[in-house]
Formats: sequence, structure tokens, C-alpha cells
Amino acid sequence: MKQIKIILITNIIAKFLTVYKPMLRIELIAAISINGKITDKTGSFSKYSSKEDQEFLHKKIKASDVLVMGRKTFEKHVEKAKKPMIVFSRQVRHLETDKKDGQQITWFNDSRQEFLNIIDLLQYKKVTILGGAEIYHWFIKQNLLTDIFLTVEPYIIDSGKNLLEGTLLEMNSKWKLKSAKKINKKGTLLLHYQS
Ligand SMILES: NC(=O)c1ccc[n+]([C@@H]2O[C@H](COP(=O)([O-])OP(=O)(O)OC[C@H]3O[C@@H](n4cnc5c(N)ncnc54)[C@H](OP(=O)(O)O)[C@@H]3O)[C@@H](O)[C@H]2O)c1
Repeated sequence: MKQIKIILITNIIAKFLTVYKPMLRIELIAAISINGKITDKTGSFSKYSSKEDQEFLHKKIKASDVLVMGRKTFEKHVEKAKKPMIVFSRQVRHLETDKKDGQQITWFNDSRQEFLNIIDLLQYKKVTILGGAEIYHWFIKQNLLTDIFLTVEPYIIDSGKNLLEGTLLEMNSKWKLKSAKKINKKGTLLLHYQS
């Protein structure tokens, strides 16, 4: 009788864990100008980025299981973040993992299935896509995003990188606006969309 009870309880717990397995979130985070630029002609966005946007970014980084970015963004900004990272580069043939000062960096080359396999294998639940334009484009094209967070800074930048860079997107996915907040006096907007 005691054994049957234990089996029953184990089954209930297993069922609960299957049903309530936390959902995988793949979140794109970007700061843009009013006209959709993520950099100016010098390749930087830092002089347009507000303190409130920086705070939001740090909060998101802290809450994520893994940070994902292109090789250029990695070299420019993120090399020292204390989180596991997946860095896109065509200079690697297959997956390669480095461990530098205890930090795990997985170098990755362009396979949707391989990407999903790593995320599943390492049981990441909160994946943060930090850019840049080529990587944002790849994730939109692969239809892998669950959330988009855009901080719109109140500037118009005459030349620089657009949010998305790559070959034409043929898809037409729909996004719902979940929230829109003005986060400071100068009028920076934080937009959250969900697929
Ligand atoms: N405003 C913002 O929120 C924001 C956020 C992030 C970045 N940025 C800015 O964006 C700029 C960088 O953006 P970016 O578009 O030029 O570069 P990126 O997306 O950061 O990196 C591009 C590199 O990623 C690799 N790559 C791209 N697509 C790939 C694929 N499908 N498979 C494998 N590897 C792939 C290639 O690396 P290899 O050359 O090694 O093959 C490519 O050169 C920087 O100036 C940064 O400051 C702005």
C-alpha cells in the first residue's frame, strides 16, 4: 500500500513538472532611434542611449540564462559579461566551446536545429538576443523569437545600421503590443511585443 502511494505521488509530481515546465523565451533586445537605426555612422549607439535604457538592459542580462550575439557585437561590447554566451561566427565550422575565466562561450555557425539543440541540451529557458543587425535578422527569419523589447530613443540618426540587416524577409509574422511605457522625461519609449 505504501509503495502504491509513493508511485502515485511520483507520477503526480512528474505530470506536474511536464505540464508546468517553464516555457522557453527567446527575447530580442535592441535600442533604436525614431527612424530605426541601432548605430550612427561611427558604429555606436552609446551617445543616444539613456540611463534608463542601460538599467533595463542590465536587468534583462541579469535575468537571462544565456546571451546570444554576433561576433562584432561580442568584440565591441559584451566580452566581459558574466553569463554563458552563444556567439555567431562563420569562422567556425561546427560548434566550439571555450571556457575563459570560468565563462562559457559557445561559437556557433548558422543552423536553426543546432541552435535549438544547444538550448535544449543546456536547459536554457531565458535566451537574450543582444544583436547586432545581422543576428536580429537571422532570428526574425528563423521565426524563433517569442518577445521583442525595443527602446526607442528620441533621436533621428542620419546614417548607420538599421535594426535588421540581411537578405529580404519573405515571412509576415504578427506581433502583439504587450506594453508601451515612457521611461523618462526626455521621452524614451520601452515597447514590448509578443508573438
Ligand atoms: N543599438 C543596439 O541595441 C545594438 C545592439 C547590438 C549591437 N549594436 C551595434 O551593431 C553593430 C554590430 O552589428 P552587425 O550587424 O554589424 O554585426 P553583428 O550582428 O554583431 O555580428 C556580425 C557577425 O556575426 C557573424 N554572423 C552573422 N550572421 C551569421 C550567421 N547566419 N551564421 C554565423 N555567423 C553569423 C559574422 O561573424 P564573422 O565575421 O566572424 O563570420 C558577422 O560578421 C555594432 O556597431 C554594435 O554597436 C547595437
